[in-house]
Amino acid sequence: DYDATPFVPEKDTDLDALREAAAACEGCPLFREASGTVFGEGRPGARVVLLGEQPGDQEDRRGRPFVGPAGRMLRRACEDAGIDPDETYVTNAVKHFKFVTTEEHGERRIHKPPSLRELTACKPWLAAELHVLKPELIIALGATAGKALYGSGFRVTQERGTLRKAPEGIEADEVVATIHPSAVLRAGKDRDDMYEGLVADLRVAAAALD
Ligand code: URA
Ligand code: SF4
Repeated sequence: DYDATPFVPEKDTDLDALREAAAACEGCPLFREASGTVFGEGRPGARVVLLGEQPGDQEDRRGRPFVGPAGRMLRRACEDAGIDPDETYVTNAVKHFKFVTTEEHGERRIHKPPSLRELTACKPWLAAELHVLKPELIIALGATAGKALYGSGFRVTQERGTLRKAPEGIEADEVVATIHPSAVLRAGKDRDDMYEGLVADLRVAAAALD
């Protein structure tokens, strides 16, 4: 089955070596259509890891995580919650952009959620990043990030905004889940409420770091 493991360097490595190796990953079919691997980045000594789903269109073009609209909202929400985004490490559960292009959307590439198989295939990269970082806290952004950590039964609506022990095999102390900033961007009239909910969950994370 799909699996990144053959591409992941041995355990005593660092983030630069992981990033370089991940650039050549062919562990699942997603590398074929995307421009390139979007690996995590941020402070090597970060206490907090922000975990998204997968790179979006702009991230794919620029090769960096959370540099598009969702990333801008995430930065603002972190600041509003008292978390300095420059002190975090930012990454995604899946490291290649998955998308569809349709007639109806013209040249626009529309994000498509990764399958459970792709999520599982890519997990060795996340595990390797966490092995190096050993953060105090992971902030899981949205259902896919939660599933990458806790399995397919994870329900973000039930688990959000509470401090949880990190699951077996995940080298972090604790996890707080919340909604994905893209969900706020997609929301209509509820947008302000959803943004406030995101910030409230991030405050739980901020309090855990005090
Ligand atoms: N959404 C994500 O989940 N990750 C990114 O890097 C950008 C948008
Ligand atoms: Fe490898 Fe993950 Fe990209 Fe699939 S999505 S090719 S497992 S880096």
